[in-house]
Amino acid sequence: MKKEIITKLAAVCAAVVCMAMFMGGNAMAAEGDSPFMDLAKKRFSVRQFADKPVPKELLLKVLEAANVAPTAKNLQPHRIHVLTKTEDIAKLDELSPCRYGAPVVLVFSYNTEEDWKHGEEPGVRSGVEDVSIVATHVMLRAAELGLGTTWVNRFRNSQLEKALLPENERSVLIMPIGFPAENAKPSRMHTTKKPLDKTVIWH
Ligand SMILES: Cc1cc2nc3c(=O)[nH]c(=O)nc-3n(C[C@H](O)[C@H](O)[C@H](O)COP(=O)(O)O)c2cc1C
Repeated sequence: MKKEIITKLAAVCAAVVCMAMFMGGNAMAAEGDSPFMDLAKKRFSVRQFADKPVPKELLLKVLEAANVAPTAKNLQPHRIHVLTKTEDIAKLDELSPCRYGAPVVLVFSYNTEEDWKHGEEPGVRSGVEDVSIVATHVMLRAAELGLGTTWVNRFRNSQLEKALLPENERSVLIMPIGFPAENAKPSRMHTTKKPLDKTVIWH
């Protein structure tokens, strides 16, 4: 009789442990708990940078994320200009108020001869989409490596293109990048989000 009770208890315990493991596994997959969701939430637009240079090796690690981004037909029309020289940064400051003291600025553009063009829809082309995906990869990888960035489209495109880019490139965004200052914190916009049912329409 005693042996029977012990066997039953052991079976119940095993079931409880199994359930806990199963539920634990599910909880791991829940929203917010995945490494991707943690990183996506951790990233925010950094608008205060430390006065500290970014080692080239670290920048290269960040930029490698650009190289695994998808682009239309894999044409890879994107270009990333890395601005670090004082004179280039000074030029950029004339064209945008949004460097926020970062020591490095990435200028994202695409080569107009290389991006995909729709054969049947005049004007439909992939350059801006390609660059946007590439820049998103870079932004997230930078956050993963402890660097701050901000996506900036408030700059004088035509003047920047004239000053810094070859003739066949169109600029899409600039991205200050560097170590966040100690007091850098997300703006209220970072967490002000519309509910999903306002942006996702099920058909
Ligand atoms: C297409 C685009 C353009 C943006 N342009 C600017 C800009 O010119 N200046 C700036 O400070 N932030 C700019 N931002 C950053 C947004 O304001 C910011 O991503 C948004 O408020 C959400 O905040 P978070 O990035 O901290 O989550 C831009 C973001 C995107 C995606």
